[in-house]
Amino acid sequence: MGRDLTSDAPGAPRAAEAPEAGRGGPTRRQLLFGGAVAGIGAVAAIGVDTLTRRDDRPDATDEAAQALHGSLTVPFYGEHQAGVETPPQAHATLVALDLRPEVDRDGLRRLMRLLTDDAARLTQGTAALADSEPELAHVPARLTVTFGFGPGLVRRATDDAGSDGVGAGGTASVALPTWLRPLPAFTVDRLEEAWSDGDLLLQIGADDAFTVAHAQRMLLKDARSFATVRWTQTGFRRAHGSERSGTTMRNLFGQVDGTVNPAPTTEDFDGLVWVRDGWLAGGTSMVVRRISMDLDGWDRLDRGGREQSVGRFLSNGAPLTGTEEHDEPDFEATTAIGFPVIAEFSHVRRSRSDDTSQRIFRRAYNYDDAPTGDAVSESGLLFVSFQADVDAQFVPLQQRLDELDLLNEWTTPIGSAVFAIPPGCSEGGYVGETLLEEAS
Ligand code: HEM
Repeated sequence: MGRDLTSDAPGAPRAAEAPEAGRGGPTRRQLLFGGAVAGIGAVAAIGVDTLTRRDDRPDATDEAAQALHGSLTVPFYGEHQAGVETPPQAHATLVALDLRPEVDRDGLRRLMRLLTDDAARLTQGTAALADSEPELAHVPARLTVTFGFGPGLVRRATDDAGSDGVGAGGTASVALPTWLRPLPAFTVDRLEEAWSDGDLLLQIGADDAFTVAHAQRMLLKDARSFATVRWTQTGFRRAHGSERSGTTMRNLFGQVDGTVNPAPTTEDFDGLVWVRDGWLAGGTSMVVRRISMDLDGWDRLDRGGREQSVGRFLSNGAPLTGTEEHDEPDFEATTAIGFPVIAEFSHVRRSRSDDTSQRIFRRAYNYDDAPTGDAVSESGLLFVSFQADVDAQFVPLQQRLDELDLLNEWTTPIGSAVFAIPPGCSEGGYVGETLLEEAS
């Protein structure tokens, strides 16, 4: 009733916190690539996800409240968007949007400014502007919002040179990375349009499903006049606090999944994941594959067969030639009768190339939807990978798995999408500005 939800709600942004538009001082470029980077480097040195606890809310004054992990936040601004290097949260929802036909470059700028502002606030535990349920924003629980651009959005941003005639390189051919298109067809694919493609991707992750739901609704309300929802996919891992942090996730086949993965903030990771040049510098690419898992079929396989299909033990994820999860697999080892201990058809052997540049960073979630018909489960993997170049890294790997991988017997890709993940931005800027504002 006449209450200003944007300013007097508990936890509403104070002036110092509010992202400032068009202020003086250093340019966005300087902030992004100059001084701010030194700060980011320092943060990276003590861990990307240097988490900050909001201690200015009424519920965070005593020791017990300090221990609540719902108050943990992940920095929003930075050289890279959060949600890539961020240790995966317990819950994630991926939403792909289709742009409305009338949305042009100017419209895209407005949309991305608005969504960036929402995300910057919500991730820090403050209500978005015009948030009709501001109290729901006060438990950030490591919320991150990561934006991805599909080929349609990049084309829209550049085909239409815009009223100011400034484009990211002027033409779509310059701005559109060659890999930003649907993946080539693989024989294992049984893709459904309902789970594929899209113009704008929102990856919303948090350790609390409630937080994800609120952020999702807030972002979609603001995107409503620019875009419609194409698909939504929800995934989960173990709840925060159920296991020691850093424990590799398990998928619904019971396998330890994610053992061999580039380690965030290392040089190796940086080289494999972050794009170096053009408007995507500091950004990356994201492949989303919805892979249905035949749990009933898997149930019929004995434990030995299950372990052979991957090449690792189910108990702790150790390679069949080792004892600990992180032991290096010995692909030369043979059994007493001369067969390889880690079979030629095993998933770990097939997903590892001799060419070490053909590696990706996996950040998957499990899904478990309502079954239909006689089935008792409708489950699978919401496979997500980040890599600097889809064609050079993901595609050859997926081709190898397409040719031979025993896991294909129980897994079927039913959705597929590729997005460019723009770099992060600094306060006052917005995600996507390097495409939508800068001339090359
Ligand atoms: C439902 C489908 C899938 C399941 C259940 C699955 C499961 C696994 C498991 C259990 C491992 C061993 C532990 C580890 O290092 O993570 C693994 C490794 C791996 N998987 Fe998958 N995976 C699936 C799909 C894919 C896809 C689609 C790709 C890429 C195209 C992929 C790429 C990899 C890579 C690169 C490794 C590490 C290999 C190495 O040791 O160097 N996986 N996967």
